[in-house]
Amino acid sequence: MQRHYVKVKYKNGDKRLRNLNWYNDNVIPKIEQYIRDDSYKKMLDLGAGNGRFCKLFHNWYENIICLDAIDELDDRYKYCNITHIKKHLHEFETTELFDIVISIASFKVMYEYYEDKFFEFIHKILRKNGRLMLEFHLSYDRTFKDSKALAWFNNGKISNVKGFEIISIAETICLKTPRACGFNLLIQNIVIVLEKIEVGEK
Ligand SMILES: C[S@@+](CC[C@H](N)C(=O)[O-])C[C@H]1O[C@@H](n2cnc3c(N)ncnc32)[C@H](O)[C@@H]1O
Repeated sequence: MQRHYVKVKYKNGDKRLRNLNWYNDNVIPKIEQYIRDDSYKKMLDLGAGNGRFCKLFHNWYENIICLDAIDELDDRYKYCNITHIKKHLHEFETTELFDIVISIASFKVMYEYYEDKFFEFIHKILRKNGRLMLEFHLSYDRTFKDSKALAWFNNGKISNVKGFEIISIAETICLKTPRACGFNLLIQNIVIVLEKIEVGEK
């Protein structure tokens, strides 16, 4: 599989950063081809928060499970094909196999606790060749410099995740200006799509 890198530089600050519209305009188009297919029916939104990403994805898949340890599904995102489960990832048991698992702005906190076990959990619940989409910021949050997720990415462990192969890495670089946040801030957003392979295939 081929990797692709996308860099988009914004000259002006974008106040909408991290809003659903911002993801929809800037992030999703770069990875749509890797996570959308008529054969993909079941998605797990891991660390779904209030379920806001269902607004973007509820027409793409037949069933979406929103798993979150704390947050409830907001009424606005209660589409008929959405199920909400209030559990931690390590408590989640299912006989279903998912075509897609997404972890948007939640991989950072989960990798902190589970480390490489995170990928073992996901490997078990994905069908063969099912896909995992991770999204996080490489900068922005100052606590991030000590983050295990950042070390995982920067130390190249990403190329060697047991049972997964990298399909796509898309990166956005955005400058938040003082008007938006009080000072200049360079924000790097990264979206990684991995595909499940059988353990031992690489
Ligand atoms: C920053 S929020 C992101 C929410 C959502 N993906 C979004 O972008 O709007 C991270 C979410 O991950 C959830 N979370 C953290 N650790 C978790 C775990 N081990 N299992 C399930 N959910 C978890 C938190 O409850 C929180 O709602």
